Amino acid sequence: MNQRPIGVFDSGVGGLTVVKELMRCMPHENIVYFGDTGRVPYGTRSRNTIQKYARQDIRFLLSHNVKMIIAACGTVSSTISDQVVEQLPIPFTGVVKPTAQKACALSLSGRIGVIGTTATVRSGAFGRAIRGVRSDAVVIGNACPLFVPLVENGFIQQDNPVTRMVAQQYLKPIQEEKVDTLILGCTHYPLLFNMINELLDYQVTLVDAGKATAEYACNYLTEHAMLNDSQQEGQRKFFVSDQPESFMSVAEMFLGIPAPEAVHVDLDLLE
Ligand code: DGL
Repeated sequence: MNQRPIGVFDSGVGGLTVVKELMRCMPHENIVYFGDTGRVPYGTRSRNTIQKYARQDIRFLLSHNVKMIIAACGTVSSTISDQVVEQLPIPFTGVVKPTAQKACALSLSGRIGVIGTTATVRSGAFGRAIRGVRSDAVVIGNACPLFVPLVENGFIQQDNPVTRMVAQQYLKPIQEEKVDTLILGCTHYPLLFNMINELLDYQVTLVDAGKATAEYACNYLTEHAMLNDSQQEGQRKFFVSDQPESFMSVAEMFLGIPAPEAVHVDLDLLE
């Protein structure tokens, strides 16, 4: 039994795709979420900058006495150094391994697509993780840098013409390569799940990095007897590094709960 919260972070709203699944599979868990909305996007930045931001985000969550940290961000998960992870006093997971494992289990042909931020695709981390499980896999990556700003600004309705036009262009090379499975390797992308599914004519199995990662965390906490055995609904606290309003409205739309109160964190305190 462990009543300490689970710490989840992302550059913005994307990590809510993990939170949504955590709330579904572990409703009694307390969660502390940090969205670094003052510095989003991470995916267009250099490796050093992403690593620095990740260390600061982790330090913030540790100050909230969390029992596990989830980097609910494909960009951070693809870039964070092993040394930082090994030095942590608590368990940690990113999204790459859980998602790659799930995609390998679901793919019949072994032709697996990965869409993510520029930094994620450049890192090749998903490809390495996939081939670690399935050496015969063919991995086709495509960076979709415009998706994050579109999602952060709430352009997520299935019929949104701007997002559809961008998505059609990004998905074309994936379709041409005849993948049977596509990893949504950025946690912002599941907010576009229905649109992507429709544009691929429902012919490709989509693997949601947020969901796969939440399932992994749930199994880990169960196996290590670290679950909160309270019978009450868990408390969720949200912190953001820019003005909370736009985060709250996207969060409400996505989590399907009344706008969660988000507290502003001064970036100077993180640095
Ligand atoms: N949700 C982050 C990811 O999974 C977004 C990255 C960004 O800020 O560019 O990669």
